[in-house]
Amino acid sequence: MKILGIESSCDETAAAVVEHGTKILSSVIASQFDVHGKYGGVVPELASREHLRAIVPVVREALDTAGCGYRELAAVAATEGPGLVGSLLVGMTYAKAVCFARGLPFIGVNHIEGHIHAVAMEAESRLEFPALALVVSGGHTHLFEMREGFEYRLLGKTRDDAAGEAYDKVAKLLGYSYPGGPVLDELAAHGNPSAVRFSPAKMKGNPLDFSFSGLKTAVLRWTQSREMAGEIAARRELLRSNPRPSAPEWLKVTPAATLDLIASFQHAVIEELLRRVEAAAETMSAHSVVITGGVACNKGLREAARGARIPYPVFFPAPALSTDNAAMIAAAAFGKLRRGEFSPMSLKAQAALTLA
Ligand code: KG4
Ligand code: ZN
Repeated sequence: MKILGIESSCDETAAAVVEHGTKILSSVIASQFDVHGKYGGVVPELASREHLRAIVPVVREALDTAGCGYRELAAVAATEGPGLVGSLLVGMTYAKAVCFARGLPFIGVNHIEGHIHAVAMEAESRLEFPALALVVSGGHTHLFEMREGFEYRLLGKTRDDAAGEAYDKVAKLLGYSYPGGPVLDELAAHGNPSAVRFSPAKMKGNPLDFSFSGLKTAVLRWTQSREMAGEIAARRELLRSNPRPSAPEWLKVTPAATLDLIASFQHAVIEELLRRVEAAAETMSAHSVVITGGVACNKGLREAARGARIPYPVFFPAPALSTDNAAMIAAAAFGKLRRGEFSPMSLKAQAALTLA
């Protein structure tokens, strides 16, 4: 059973063909980095226009690489939300049009559930339920309890910025490129994580909620208390001559004190995330943990999770499946297909769709 998955919730146009929910026959991702990079973040109107440009060739390449025609598909799935409505509409409308023309079932998939399936498609046989699932990306920081059959209960979520958003904002503030996560992750390895002390976010109410805006403000204060104009200007200059500098190039324009700041920021983000997972693991009888979403690429987070006080196996997706892709959408759709859960053609793109 082959499913064509389409993902267009933010700034990546992606299509993939996945067989039986686990075997990736193709996974094509057209990134809009070059369009948004110079603005330091995603510009929604430009994103929808780029999706329109990319959707036909990306789907064609996914089918060609998989050696698969529309005739062999069991269904077409697309992300229905959460995300940018103008962007979601491109992928969803394309998927619906294919389904309408070819008489195929259409399946709308929640993007957050897609991220969870990026892990489940590789590790399903080893995933034991109930599980804890931490979805941590540019748009989301959510902790779920996940029961057999992929039923979710929300345990906590961010009250302000998502963790990836904090990375992107701090990177922009310091003059680095967008998205900020991969750059800061590389640089953090060269600094001292205990050089700058950031106080942990104090949560009134639900202790499993997250908050990153205080940390972002603390980084801003730190930069304001120092003379950093020269180094920030040097980084912006580097970006003008090369939109994608390598880690060694960034290192040349990053003094030791800034490396220490970055390492300490990363340490604080990881603490904030893992403390919640550890607390949930202590009080709940879970048997495994899933950490997924763009921030799950983070090398520091992966390493820290190995040493964390989590008494069960922790599963991360392969790095290529951590950030937005369409294989995870097709994988999530497979379970729905087996249960006969199809979506109506009237399904709407939803900016703020929740999972539980
Ligand atoms: O899952 P994703 O591709 O899109 C959303 O659903 O938001 O995640 C993108 C986010 C960006 O904020 C990016 O900075 C962050 O993931 N990210 C990272 C790393 N790689 C990507 N954050 C920290 N460390 C990384 N290595
Ligand atoms: Zn995502």
